[in-house]
Amino acid sequence: MKQDMILILDLGSEGNPRLAREIRAMGVYTEIHPHDITAPELAALPNVKGIILNGGINRVVDGVEIDASQAVYNSGLPIWAIDHKGAAPLADEGADREKAIRDFVFGTCKADTNWNMENFIADQVELIRKQVGNKKVLLALSGGVDSSVVAALLIKAIGDQLTCVHVNHGLLRKGEPEQVVQVFGKELNANLVYVDAVDRFLDKLAGVADPETKRKVIGAEFIRVFEEEARKLEGIEFLGQGTIYPDIIESGTKTVKAVKSHHNVGGLPEDLQFELVEPLKMLFKDEVRACGVALGLPSAMVYRQPFPGPGLGVRCLGAITRDRLEAVRESDAILREEFAKNGLEGKVWQYFTAIPDIKSVGVRDNKRADEWCVILRAVNTVDAMTATVEEVPYALLHHIVNRITNEVKGVNRVLFDLTPKPTGTIEWE
Ligand code: XMP
Repeated sequence: MKQDMILILDLGSEGNPRLAREIRAMGVYTEIHPHDITAPELAALPNVKGIILNGGINRVVDGVEIDASQAVYNSGLPIWAIDHKGAAPLADEGADREKAIRDFVFGTCKADTNWNMENFIADQVELIRKQVGNKKVLLALSGGVDSSVVAALLIKAIGDQLTCVHVNHGLLRKGEPEQVVQVFGKELNANLVYVDAVDRFLDKLAGVADPETKRKVIGAEFIRVFEEEARKLEGIEFLGQGTIYPDIIESGTKTVKAVKSHHNVGGLPEDLQFELVEPLKMLFKDEVRACGVALGLPSAMVYRQPFPGPGLGVRCLGAITRDRLEAVRESDAILREEFAKNGLEGKVWQYFTAIPDIKSVGVRDNKRADEWCVILRAVNTVDAMTATVEEVPYALLHHIVNRITNEVKGVNRVLFDLTPKPTGTIEWE
């Protein structure tokens, strides 16, 4: 193993992710584990140089004071209790804090600055091989950042012991299923099962107008299709997952209550008995992207903007119809092409089109034409909790309107959504 590790034990501090990132920024790998880690679990972690017990002000969880397990105190490793057992509280901000961390990590633990993507990948390849042995792994490959990076890492580690299943549910953006086939099936030569489930999903969604019901139908059908494919394969014992550290935080830890359940963490078919392989589960999003770049994935895949799991399904408002779904996909492709050409691609956080279930009167070829309208949305945000609208130049907006009304079948009007979040949300449903 190439990397040293500082282990952070979670004693109820909400500052754990920040502390983990601060130490990684100093070049030393960190992992956060529950306070009650057992001796075998501790022994299984490679190259631990020291342990930080991070209790903060929340060391009391649900009225009960918690402490690290005896295994930790018996480990013989350097232990630093921050604000714990009478140790001097750590200054919250600034140079004092950084100096105290450096003193522990480099002075007491003598950790080396060997955390980088090359070493991370080398270590994960070794760990994946050790976990999987000569068994087989199955992965649902959506083409999103997390599943793509985990696929590339698993291919590097175990090659054709991995089978990737890409379910095309018909709700992806233009060109995305083709890109998955090109990159993973052809360039990386993966075992790729491509499932064309477009008709199946659209039949299930016919007439379903309520947004939450649509999400449930899409999620449930996805699991059904994936399960069917899994049952066709022989001898699979592991399931690869693109779980990343923020998914785990949002799903709650032993000391912090769940914000929301996450699709990567819950929702697995219960009677399919797989052991999970989750090599990205300790990475933050920017680190996942860096890992993807180091593995040679195309930047369009690694730096793509957030895209809702139910895809274009929640941008084709109300009950999904094939003509409007096609119109939202085509208009989205035009918007993306024009933003890329005009230098807005890496600048605007998220942009897309949505199509309401509304027709309006228009004129085409000198005749009255009742057609759909398309909404453009372009927003910036830090954490998706609030968002502001990008001030797209008028000339570019005019050009995009012109292209959409000329090139997208059945659309005679284009609207630009100027609403921030709140009161709007980023998506329309
Ligand atoms: P809202 O619309 O809530 O969106 O302001 C905030 C961010 O979350 C994305 N989003 C989703 N992502 N499944 C997802 O994986 C969903 O059902 C979903 N709904 C919204 C949205 O694109 C934005 O980035």
